[in-house]
Amino acid sequence: MKCRICQQEISSFMSYGKMPIANGFLTSEQLASEYFFELKPAFCEHCLTFQIEEQPDPEVMFHDHYAFFSRTSKRMQEHFGGYATWVFDNYLDGKDPFVVEIGSNDGIMLENFAKRGIRHLGVEPSANVAEEARKHGVNTVVRFFGPETADDIVKEYGHADALIAANVMCHIPDMHGIAKGADSLLKPTGVLVFEDPYLGAMIEKTSYDQIYDEHVFIFSALSVANMFGPYGFELIDLLPQATHGGSMRYVLARKGARTVQPSVAKILTDEKKAGLHLPETYEQFREKCETSKRELVAMLQAEKAAGRRVAGYGATSKSTTILNYCGIGPDLIEYISDTTPIKQNKFSPGMHIPVRPYEEFKNNPPETAVLFAWNHAEEIMDKEKAFTESGGRWIVHVPKVRVL
Ligand code: SAH
Ligand code: TYD
Repeated sequence: MKCRICQQEISSFMSYGKMPIANGFLTSEQLASEYFFELKPAFCEHCLTFQIEEQPDPEVMFHDHYAFFSRTSKRMQEHFGGYATWVFDNYLDGKDPFVVEIGSNDGIMLENFAKRGIRHLGVEPSANVAEEARKHGVNTVVRFFGPETADDIVKEYGHADALIAANVMCHIPDMHGIAKGADSLLKPTGVLVFEDPYLGAMIEKTSYDQIYDEHVFIFSALSVANMFGPYGFELIDLLPQATHGGSMRYVLARKGARTVQPSVAKILTDEKKAGLHLPETYEQFREKCETSKRELVAMLQAEKAAGRRVAGYGATSKSTTILNYCGIGPDLIEYISDTTPIKQNKFSPGMHIPVRPYEEFKNNPPETAVLFAWNHAEEIMDKEKAFTESGGRWIVHVPKVRVL
């Protein structure tokens, strides 16, 4: 394949096998006609970008019945409150500022600007989540962001002070379109700020479940600098985040327009120390994935042999990769509990484990829970003290497969 960023020839270093749409929860009528593709990660030695070889069309993943609603996590609501305040304090210094968010989902971040009376616009192609955002007073347009959308926004609203995003840049295959769009949309001192699951954290924790259809890229600072450099942008700050199991917030501005913080040189150096620029790092990662798979399957088989009932906690996109890569189905996990109504009473993508409302977990708890929403561990452990205290066991697979 050709690298999506630098167009050099690259090849994948492993295959996770046939994968369904990570957020494609199915009704019983849909089980027979499920869409599959081969999930193969690849690393480009030239521009240092980690990516997947094949990605389903965006319209197959993002539509008017998209299953992920950002507001399902209270902690994430707090996180986005903090993110918005930080953008507001650091980058909205002009008069009557204007903020655009890519992938604004149900308005979890932009409502913090709306409440401050700041001009804002969310660009969100999934109509059902966009509708939810509007209910929270967030001005939203149902579109994919790209150069044309950027031009239309400039015509209607003028140039932006900040183009912000979270957990969406890594979904977008055409990063050249994003860079062009940012260039036409932003004022001369405008900033592009986004955060996404971080390659450094994924390698450190063997959290291979970050790799699924939506995540066409897993970024590092090295790759982001290479991506945006040709469009006249430079990294001016980098802020590691604890969210989604380890993320990075990237701040870019036009070269020379703003002060470059010391964090940039530090993190670029750390990435080289961690070997994120070396192909052998990904060979080792592949071996660790294989070990993780073997250990998780063995642990679940042991639970079954011991006669313990096992349920999954959180029907995450990440769990789609784990379950399908490891071949874990309803014989090993009875059901997955999830609080999102649109996922409930459906079947998990690919392995077809029933997804049940949270009340099922509460009223008829299993003996063991597999924490698929491990990125929300703190919030969930707080909430599930009764389960834990009554002897409920938790299995997690990162950074090593273990019983908590
Ligand atoms: N920012 C939210 C939502 C992340 S999920 C959060 O961090 O919780 C990713 C969102 O981006 C989805 O709502 C999806 O519909 C949207 N999206 C996907 N591709 C997009 C694109 N090209 N432009 C704008 N939004 C996009
Ligand atoms: P998340 O880990 O945020 O997303 P991803 O799909 O990117 O891997 O998804 C969390 C899922 O877990 C979501 O479907 C809601 C569910 N959930 C619960 O069921 N209970 C909880 O307490 C929390 C925090 C999440």
